[in-house]
Amino acid sequence: MPALVDRFGRTHTYLRISVTDRCNFRCLYCMPEEGMQFMDQEKLLTYPQILEVAGAAARLGIRKFRITGGEPLVRPGLEQLIAGLAELPGVKDISLTTNGLLLAPQARKLKDTGLHRVNISLDTLDAARFRFIARRGDLTRVLEGVEAAAEAGLQPIKLNCVLLKGVNEDEIGRFLKLSVDQPLHIRFIEYMPIGHDDENWRSHYLPLSRVLEEAEKLGYAVEQAQAPTGSGPSEDYKIAGAAGTFGLIHPVSNHFCQNCNRLRLTADGNIKPCLYWVDELNVRPALGSQEALEALFRRAMDIKPENHEMAALLAGEAQSHVPTERRMSQIG
Ligand code: GTP
Ligand code: 5AD
Ligand code: SF4
Repeated sequence: MPALVDRFGRTHTYLRISVTDRCNFRCLYCMPEEGMQFMDQEKLLTYPQILEVAGAAARLGIRKFRITGGEPLVRPGLEQLIAGLAELPGVKDISLTTNGLLLAPQARKLKDTGLHRVNISLDTLDAARFRFIARRGDLTRVLEGVEAAAEAGLQPIKLNCVLLKGVNEDEIGRFLKLSVDQPLHIRFIEYMPIGHDDENWRSHYLPLSRVLEEAEKLGYAVEQAQAPTGSGPSEDYKIAGAAGTFGLIHPVSNHFCQNCNRLRLTADGNIKPCLYWVDELNVRPALGSQEALEALFRRAMDIKPENHEMAALLAGEAQSHVPTERRMSQIG
């Protein structure tokens, strides 16, 4: 079987597919409040075009697909993409990263179409604070989305919580308790300076060592946990007797590049070998030819860097290395 192995021996089995850079939130760590210059709709790959690219990826050993945005549920007709992905040979895992706002009414349909599971962003359990962080939307609807996902069997459910100094760090205990009471997998995430290395990042960045300290303070017995399905970058733990788990994703303080198995396809049709690097490969000229698409994925293996410079950035040693071309919502 052909495999996507890069210059550093890493085999790639995971493709993140962004379907839009638009979003119905404006999270303070992701987008400016006034929004951004969004991509022209004509620039987006159509679902059949995405499936063509995904087909080439599947032939090269990609087994896991994640649909991302922006917020993927703002793009209509996602079932067409999910159904197509489900038919690809060898596919083991189809998941969605969402902010949850539009999830409740669609959860059952998405599951029936072939979606396996969801990761839902949830940075706070406080309604007023939710409006401060996301600037739009409404916590109740997101929590309804989490519940609907559970009822529809979109399991395991992971909740992504970006920890922000001075904003939600006092909720670590509350999230840990949630992982005790419910079969949910809370992942605490470090705020990354992505597309922006600014005062906002410098003042809100919080290293995740705080989480284990807090668990100890609360008297929880913490054990290493079996990773829930598909756990790539997260370091997983469990509180003794808990229904769920919690994990730490620390791209800044302790990067996980040596185990990286992922590639990305941006909504406007670029293969991005590394989240934190400027290089991209445009798929459009290769559409219509599976050989050309496969060659592009192999090329991605040749140009993928060994690691990124976020830690050096934090130490003040690599200020010029922050790629500013795209933010997380424009990458996926
Ligand atoms: P699973 O398949 O469930 O393990 O999901 P995932 O963690 O791969 O995907 P998700 O979209 O839920 O991403 C969670 C967090 O991981 C994001 O908020 C980012 O902070 C971080 N992340 C995702 N991909 C990358 C990456 O390629 N590099 C780095 N440095 N961080 C990433
Ligand atoms: N740092 C860390 N995580 C981020 N996300 C978006 N922007 C950032 C950032 N700058 C997270 C969202 C979502 C996931 C896809 O990425 O919260 O869970
Ligand atoms: Fe939207 Fe996700 Fe960015 Fe928040 S983090 S603004 S939900 S794309």
